[in-house]
Amino acid sequence: MQREHWGSRVGFILAAAGSAVGLGNIWKFPYLVGAEGGGVFLVVYVGFLIAIGFCVMIAEIALGRHAQANPFGAFKRVGGKRWSIFGLLAVLTAFTILSFYSIVGGWTIAYVVKTITGGFSGYSGAEFESHFGELVTSPIEPIVYHAAFMAFGVLIVINGITSGIERAAKIMMPLLFILLALLVVRSLTLDGAMAGVRYFLVPDWSHLDADMVAAALGQAFFSLSLGMGALITYGSYLGEKESIPNAAGWVVCLDLLVAVLAGFLILPAVFAFNMDPAAGPGLTFITLPAIFAELPFGIVVQLCFFLLLFVAAITSAISLLQVVVSFVGEEFNVCRQWTTVWVGVAIFLFGVPSSLALGVWGDVTFYDMNIFDLLGYITDTFFLPIGAIATCLVAGWVSYDKFAAEVTNEGQRPFAYLTAWKWMCRVAAPIGILWVMYEAIFGA
Ligand code: PHE
Repeated sequence: MQREHWGSRVGFILAAAGSAVGLGNIWKFPYLVGAEGGGVFLVVYVGFLIAIGFCVMIAEIALGRHAQANPFGAFKRVGGKRWSIFGLLAVLTAFTILSFYSIVGGWTIAYVVKTITGGFSGYSGAEFESHFGELVTSPIEPIVYHAAFMAFGVLIVINGITSGIERAAKIMMPLLFILLALLVVRSLTLDGAMAGVRYFLVPDWSHLDADMVAAALGQAFFSLSLGMGALITYGSYLGEKESIPNAAGWVVCLDLLVAVLAGFLILPAVFAFNMDPAAGPGLTFITLPAIFAELPFGIVVQLCFFLLLFVAAITSAISLLQVVVSFVGEEFNVCRQWTTVWVGVAIFLFGVPSSLALGVWGDVTFYDMNIFDLLGYITDTFFLPIGAIATCLVAGWVSYDKFAAEVTNEGQRPFAYLTAWKWMCRVAAPIGILWVMYEAIFGA
């Protein structure tokens, strides 16, 4: 059977950028900047994004396109049987991450629905806080929204690459940029916004430490959707004439742009209202709604913001879903539609304990972590970095010639940094990633 391809280069770039731009950019990046000391985090992050993230992304896309297969098939074809275990790991990582990513995605739907139905009218800051607590700890409500979020994802992926994922990305990514631009303008025109801008942009080098550097590299990987097969999968549908470094460059730039804009949206607002930028994960769901509530037409601002979060989350979720769907569909030769439905149901069910872990199952802990935190810890600390290292080693050592041919389109589109890229994959990126793993396991 002829393998489906993206309808256009722009379609691929938007879909891959849709995967990269997610809750990681809008929810996690600003709170990491807030918690890790501002501008200095930004500087280190950008450095990693360009030096390591860009290289690994090229390797992942090239792996997928060369093999024309899902991550498992791709590792097997390019590296041989021994390496296929890493493809399997990537599929497992995508499955696991989507199971809890979808829970947070469900919260964004909950906030959109509640804003529209007037559920937040007259709320004060403290009420937003208790409301968030009630939502995430309730045994039923977040699971219903988690189901709704997965259902959205299934409805997109079931239509395939061009009429499903690519079409969704072409509609949603422009929408995302419009919403983001509107919100940034609103935030920057608040009285006192400049203090936030300064905090975000001016590095204070005294915050530079190993912990922060490790967090920046980990975030760069997560934000670019690396290490879990998403770009291997998307790359496998990329036409053979396209330039991989060029496409990867676009995706990295768009991802960075959204992270920076999210910083310009969130930090100025937090400073203008004298809130704590180091508030952590609650920044998005508690601090910001409380700020919006104070503004004229705050309800509109709030609606735009939660829609933005939802759009960012769903375009990322579909790339994870596609990883698992392409694996099951290709390796077991089953029809795409049914595979998509059943994979969606399985991921939904697997995610339920993570949601309960924030409430009624809170005391089920392993190594002092509830199930939600534990899954995040295992995937972030072990699965993701191992997947990324495996990709680098296959690209740099095991099949370098095939990769070099793929990255340069058989020499027809020379890549000026090919040698630098090779050594990045061979040595620098694996060492950097190993060090982050070490920090995450043994660090403070
Ligand atoms: N990159 C996404 C984000 O920033 C998360 C993600 C990771 C999505 C891996 C797909 C694959 O939120």
